[in-house]
Order: sequence, then C-alpha cells, then structure tokens
Amino acid sequence: MAKAPTRYVCQSCGEDFLRWEGQCRSCGAWNSLVETIIHGPAKSARRSARADAPASVPLSLADIGETAVPRMPVGIAEIDRVLGGGLVPGSLVLVGGEPGIGKSTLLLQAAAGLAVGAGAVGGWVLYAAGEESAAQVALRARRLGLGDGPAGRAVRVIAESEIGRIGDVARSERPAMVVVDSIQTMRVDELDGPAGSVGQVRESALRLMELAKGEGIAVVLVGHVTKDGSLAGPKTLEHLVDAVLTLDGERYSSLRLLRATKNRFGSTEEVGVFEMGELGLIELTDPARAFLVEHASPAPGSVVAPTLEGSRPLLVEVQALVAPSGYPSPRRTASGLDPNRLALLIAVLGRRAGIGLGSHDVYANLAGGLTVEEPGLDLPVALALASSLRDRPVRADTVAIGEVGLLGELRSVSGLERRLREAARLGFTRAIVPAHGRGAPAPVVAGIEVHAVPTLRDALAAALEEALEPLARR
Ligand code: TYD
Ligand code: MG
Repeated sequence: MAKAPTRYVCQSCGEDFLRWEGQCRSCGAWNSLVETIIHGPAKSARRSARADAPASVPLSLADIGETAVPRMPVGIAEIDRVLGGGLVPGSLVLVGGEPGIGKSTLLLQAAAGLAVGAGAVGGWVLYAAGEESAAQVALRARRLGLGDGPAGRAVRVIAESEIGRIGDVARSERPAMVVVDSIQTMRVDELDGPAGSVGQVRESALRLMELAKGEGIAVVLVGHVTKDGSLAGPKTLEHLVDAVLTLDGERYSSLRLLRATKNRFGSTEEVGVFEMGELGLIELTDPARAFLVEHASPAPGSVVAPTLEGSRPLLVEVQALVAPSGYPSPRRTASGLDPNRLALLIAVLGRRAGIGLGSHDVYANLAGGLTVEEPGLDLPVALALASSLRDRPVRADTVAIGEVGLLGELRSVSGLERRLREAARLGFTRAIVPAHGRGAPAPVVAGIEVHAVPTLRDALAAALEEALEPLARR
C-alpha cells in the first residue's frame, strides 16, 4: 500500500512538523506531537462520498418521528437499558474498563445476543480480535455456552489488527455489528507509530467511525483504561464516539457495573449490574441486595445507605474503621468513596458534632467493591465513622442518607421516597434522613419509621441512640 504523507501535529496548538520531537517548537508543550495522516485515502474517500450523496433536506422537529432512531436489542436487558433500549445502527460505542475486568466476555455475550436476534433476518456480528487468536475467542465462546447453536453460527471472528482490512471485510460482508477488541491493538498501515500510540488509536477510531456512519453498521470498540486513567487512547476518543460505557468493579469481587458516561441516544443515569461467574457475566435483575453484607450481629462502623443509581435504588453498606494513630499525620483511606469528601466529613464531625478524629487513622469503604459518587453518602459515612469511634453499632434495621454541609446541616437528596420504598421492601424499618426545608413533610413510606433531622448532630443522636454531650464541653 502506498504510504500516505504524515505529519506530527501538536495537540495543543495545532502546528505540524515533519519529525517527532519531545517539545512543540511553536507553543512549547511537551509530548504533544501526534503522528497524523494529512491527505490519506480516508479523507478523499470521505470527500467523494459527500459529492455523491443527495442534498440534505431540512426537516422540522415535528416531522422527525421517534422511529428516526431504530434500535437493535442485544437481548441482555441490563446492557440494553444502559444503551437506552438497544444498539443504534450506525453508532460508534466505546466500552472501557481495566484489563481483566470482563470487557471481552461482555462483548462476546452481547455479540451473541444481538446475532441471535438479528439472525432471524439474516444479520450477523463480526468480531475483530486484535488481542486473541480466533481459537481463543472460540474457546471462550464455548465456555460461555455460545459455541454452537444460532449464536455460534451468527458470530464470525477475524484475528486482525489492521483497520483497513477489518473495514474491507465489513463493507463487503455487511454484518449488523462489528466488535473491535481492542482499539489499543489496532493500527492503520499508513502510520508508522506502534499500535496503541495516540496517533494510531485516533486514526483507527476515525476510520471505524466512517465505517459506522457510512455503512449504518454499529461498531463497538473495546478500550483499556488503567486505574489512573492516564493511558493514551480511550480518553481522547470520548468526544468522537456516540456512547461511552464503562465496566467497573473490584477485580477480586465478582460484581460488575456497566454505566454509560456518555450517550447520545439515551440517558447516562442507568446502570447495569452483573455478576462474573463460571458462565460469564450474569445479569442481576434485582441487585438491590447485592452490595449488602450479612452480619451475624450489628457491627460498629457499618451503616446501610439507600443510594440511587439512575432510576434504580441500590442499598449499599458503608464500612468505617477508626483507630488511634501512631503517626503525627494520621492515615485517611477511602475506597469506593471520594477521599476529599471523607476528609471534609472528618473536619465537619470534629468541628460541628464533637467527634474528634484528628489523632485517629480512618478507613472507609463500600462493601462489594462498588464506587458511588453521590453526595447523599455523606451522612451514612459520617455515621459509620462516629459509630466506629464510639464502638456503638447503628441498629441493623436502619438506613441513612443525606448530604452534609460545612455547617453540619443536612441537605436532602433526590428521589427520597423511591429510596425508602426500596429499603422497606428489603426489610429495613427505620430511616434517618434530612428534614425538608420550609416545613415540607418527610415522605411517608409504609413499614418504615422516618426520622427527619436537620443537622448531623441530631442524626448522630438518632443513629447511635445516645445523647451527645454539649459541644462547649469538648
Ligand atoms: P475478559 O473478558 O478477558 O477481560 P477483559 O477483556 O476486560 O480484559 O475477562 C477477564 C476475566 O474474567 C478472566 O480473568 C477470567 C474471568 N472469567 C470468568 O470468571 N468467567 C468467564 O466465564 C469468563 C469468560 C471469564
Ligand atoms: Mg479482553
């Protein structure tokens, strides 16, 4: 193949250079030059496609029906919900996650599900494996019970990592969906850089976007992200793709969460919950209890929080351990929680509620390897810290939710009634929640006694069932 002319373009100022250099000579940015095709075949193909296309006709919003977005369900309800009802033909979707979390497994299952549904009308799925051989993919499919039957016939594998060849196969054989696993192993022949370099990843993704939009094929990319998220690649793709789904979870726990962090065709609020098992990722259709730990007796430092992930309530157990520190600057360790929020809660507890943790090591986490970012976790975290310090358990039938302000006041959270209904359904009978401002009544939920309190101090008294000593004496 003829080599297309390439330049090294600065990602910071846009200046281009003939050779790679560590620092941009124009703007001074470091490591900002990325190998880029200047007049590649892709570009001319795009131009001629535009010349052939019929002129676009503007349609009024009222005339554009809902049917404008057709959907291909992948047949796995949790994935379809996160996508907003199924995969959209012609869309480009990025599925990110740490290595080994289960992306290939998820996509093989989704490919099989979609292929079976589409198989009735002659549709099939092309699985381009850049990391594994075709035999390895087939072996995994067999383990998942997808090796034969309709799925086994409707998913076809190529072990290929050159985007041009994948595109050629897709254009001539016309699958309904293409899975590219993973974008870091893909390259285009016209660029010199190794697979996984920013230039290769970006150009590969651009070509796959052309494939998706031009042919109406849904293309799903797998992208590895490291824990610190600094890896060149998927981050730069986020603006390019139609949807970004992330699969996360603790590697040594079996629970996995699929979230949409960007979705042009649906909400970014929904979350799908899976359990990794012998037969791959099994959807948990009633995950409300999945993140709770069964205790033989009430444990100090444990508080259950009715969180809301999108439209779905999830009950999560917050665990905290507070221990006298042997160091001048005590440890603060948070897992699944925002560490800055933890530091702030420690300060508020000390200044506004008389719970001094200045000479204690503090560890706080969420059971089950879950990560939750909502501010409503403030109150359960604060209560868990106080419970651990006092060595007094919070009653096992109690849930707590609410945001904590700097003055120690509690702020309400969205969807309180929905959260409390779910807690009641799972057998909780007592809830500590923020009192609504301006005299609005607390929600009434059958089976649950609601303590609506205005401040963190009141919440502590209710949760630990002890009268706190007056602040002035401490
Ligand atoms: P994989 O999908 O290969 O992860 P990724 O593509 O994100 O790197 O799956 C990784 C892990 O999942 C692997 O260590 C084995 C485990 N696994 C199961 O527990 N059950 C299964 O059925 C399969 C296929 C994998
Ligand atoms: Mg993989």
